[in-house]
Amino acid sequence: MAQEVRGVIAPGKDEPVRVETIVVPDPGPGEAVVQIQACGVCHTDLHYKQGGISDDFPFLLGHEAAGVVESVGEGVTDVAPGDFVILNWRAVCGQCRACLRGRPWYCFNTHNAKQKMTLTDGTELSPALGIGAFAEKTLVAAGQCTKVDPSVSPQVAGLLGCGVMAGIGAAINTGNVGRGDTVAVIGCGGVGDAAIAGSNLAGAARIIAVDIDDRKLEKARSMGATHTVNSRETDAVAAIRELTGGFGADVVIEAVGRPETYQQAFYARDLAGTVVLVGVPTPEMKLELPLLDVFGRGGALKSSWYGDCLPSRDFPMLIDLHLQGRLDLEAFVTETIELTDVEKAFERMHHGDVLRSVVVL
Ligand SMILES: NC(=O)c1ccc[n+]([C@@H]2O[C@H](COP(=O)([O-])OP(=O)(O)OC[C@H]3O[C@@H](n4cnc5c(N)ncnc54)[C@H](O)[C@@H]3O)[C@@H](O)[C@H]2O)c1
Ligand SMILES: [Zn+2]
Ligand SMILES: [Zn+2]
Repeated sequence: MAQEVRGVIAPGKDEPVRVETIVVPDPGPGEAVVQIQACGVCHTDLHYKQGGISDDFPFLLGHEAAGVVESVGEGVTDVAPGDFVILNWRAVCGQCRACLRGRPWYCFNTHNAKQKMTLTDGTELSPALGIGAFAEKTLVAAGQCTKVDPSVSPQVAGLLGCGVMAGIGAAINTGNVGRGDTVAVIGCGGVGDAAIAGSNLAGAARIIAVDIDDRKLEKARSMGATHTVNSRETDAVAAIRELTGGFGADVVIEAVGRPETYQQAFYARDLAGTVVLVGVPTPEMKLELPLLDVFGRGGALKSSWYGDCLPSRDFPMLIDLHLQGRLDLEAFVTETIELTDVEKAFERMHHGDVLRSVVVL
């Protein structure tokens, strides 16, 4: 029997989000219904609402979530009802060319639930990142459920489902930050701060946080930044070079998703250094760089999709580190809110007032 639950939808481009009744089908083969306990508000949800990701409105928003598996469909063996899980947007297929080459974190054929959740009038919903977890329950592919230690609080566990994993992974997986490296992180929202925390975990010697908002810089320091730069007041590239012996950082992580900050990242790295783009640009953005500089500066220009994470490997490990007191996930939660507060949370995110607002159900 399909169930009716409350969920937050983005009805159309730039229209305010609202709570609606959502119809969640019973799980079919390979699917699971998860009772959501907490779901963080990520900037990507705002991109969806603004039409920056696709035009497939209405969206069922929310994708940084943890909860308990309620029911599973035929053939599901990895998770069972009652399991505490973090939802991921990388259910690896095991068969695509990336998986077959032993690089499942690039899986090119990740899957979601086959059945559609709908509004009560039958309108099909597009769940954000194939998840849709600003809802009391959601339908996902069973592979999107990653079991972790159930003693962790759902509010912090859910954060690993997107932004915090993307940031930590941008540093430790994509950027390959290691002991003694200098790192600069441009944009210190939830993703950038997670990149700072990840660089700290990996043993970086210097971690330079760059933002245009002093409140964000203060928070970044508490996350492990050793130096901060307000790029509204100071030239970011010059400041990063000055803090790295005049050379630039070994790894620069761009966590804003804009051409001008990418350009800063490009010129703020040392020769043969690495740029990691984890911020998500919008379709109209363009980048122009002298090709000779791309060649002459050497190194690696990388993008980081979801922190190149492998949920089954990385989620349980990071939750363990958190439970041991080695990774402060609580620090990312600015406030807990209700389903009805998502629009207000977008406002606060837009004004830079929060790192993460987390919907608790
Ligand atoms: N690659 C991925 O897999 C992935 C996953 C999650 C989120 N993201 C993306 O990461 C980006 C950051 O997400 P978030 O949730 O941290 O957003 P956020 O809005 O919380 O943080 C953005 C930060 O950038 C700062 N900023 C804005 N303009 C700046 C500028 N010109 N120079 C320096 N700092 C500037 C803001 O003050 C803010 O602190 C978004 O583009 C989001 O879509 C990517
Ligand atoms: Zn695959
Ligand atoms: Zn996200």
